[in-house]
Amino acid sequence: MPRPPSDRFQPAGKRKSRPKTDHRARQPAHEYELEVLPGLEHVAATELAAVPLARDIRGLRFWFPGDPERLTRLRSALAAYRIRTWDVPRPRGLLGHQQLGELTEFLQGVLAVGGQTSFRLGAAGKESVVMQRLAEELENALELPYRPEDGQLLIRLRPETDGPGWEVLARTTPKPLSARPWRVCNMNGGLNATLAYATHKLAGQRDVDRIFNPMCGSGTLLIERDLLGPSDALVGVDLDPAAVACARTNIEAAGRQIEVAQIDALHTGLAARSFDLIVADLPWGDAIGTHGGNAALYPAFLGEMHRLLSRQGRLAVITHEIRLFEGLLTGSTQWNARELLQVASGGHHPKVYLLNRR
Ligand SMILES: C[S@@+](CC[C@H](N)C(=O)[O-])C[C@H]1O[C@@H](n2cnc3c(N)ncnc32)[C@H](O)[C@@H]1O
Repeated sequence: MPRPPSDRFQPAGKRKSRPKTDHRARQPAHEYELEVLPGLEHVAATELAAVPLARDIRGLRFWFPGDPERLTRLRSALAAYRIRTWDVPRPRGLLGHQQLGELTEFLQGVLAVGGQTSFRLGAAGKESVVMQRLAEELENALELPYRPEDGQLLIRLRPETDGPGWEVLARTTPKPLSARPWRVCNMNGGLNATLAYATHKLAGQRDVDRIFNPMCGSGTLLIERDLLGPSDALVGVDLDPAAVACARTNIEAAGRQIEVAQIDALHTGLAARSFDLIVADLPWGDAIGTHGGNAALYPAFLGEMHRLLSRQGRLAVITHEIRLFEGLLTGSTQWNARELLQVASGGHHPKVYLLNRR
């Protein structure tokens, strides 16, 4: 049997119907869990705490009786999953007649919101006979094709966190939330958008900031900042004309107006103290740039940003060249620096630093 949601989240009596887009409308509560890049848990928890009606928040797990569409607007999460727990000792138990009926109903609830057109299983041992049986049963019951590699409805199975049963997690959206709709141009070395969001939140968001994004690549940091709210100025540059074209394409797809130019970030010709916030995702020395090149680029970058930053300004830097970067900061007479976070992203473990002029 699946566990029922606790009583206080059940719809109380008959309610007036509300427009579907009103995320504050109470609906039957469901339990959810957010998936995030390891290292961004605290950023996601802060964002989640601001979601109206999210209740019983335990880490990134919570109950929510509002419109699930609201959860698709979370910017720090890779994905949101609806969860249900079954009192079965192993996945085979989900193949029972009653359990399969309940599981189908649970997944239909997710499909009704997410509109996925295929499904896949994400579980240890998904090639096993039991999982294959489950896939076949669900293919029939849901009338949805099973696409083991790229199915849109991602169904994960795992042992219950604090009990003897099994949990089924169903991703609420056909694509991860981190695959932003504005990203129509992909660039090698493009930043995970959830990390871009987190960097801006931790670096501080002020309407009066004049913001510079040197080495903007495909425009991730620019677009994520503009979507957060107004700023006094927002400008990006990149040396590579293909990157500038890519950023412009993405900016247009996002419906934003942000200035991007093909200029060397180290020789912009801009006046001293032009910016209050500089946010940079520097070449990491693998996909983009080389370690040798970075040894020269990084100190030159720090020197020029010191010139461009206002007296009270902030410089946020994302990099995977940790030893090189920290070596430059140790004993620096120009900068005070602190580490904001470190994440695991695409096989890398970049850090984000916040620097202030001494
Ligand atoms: C790690 S990538 C940035 C990726 C970007 N955050 C995104 O999401 O697409 C670094 C970028 O720095 C650019 N770059 C390297 N040296 C530069 C310089 N001196 N001036 C401007 N851009 C530079 C590269 O062309 C590359 O696009």
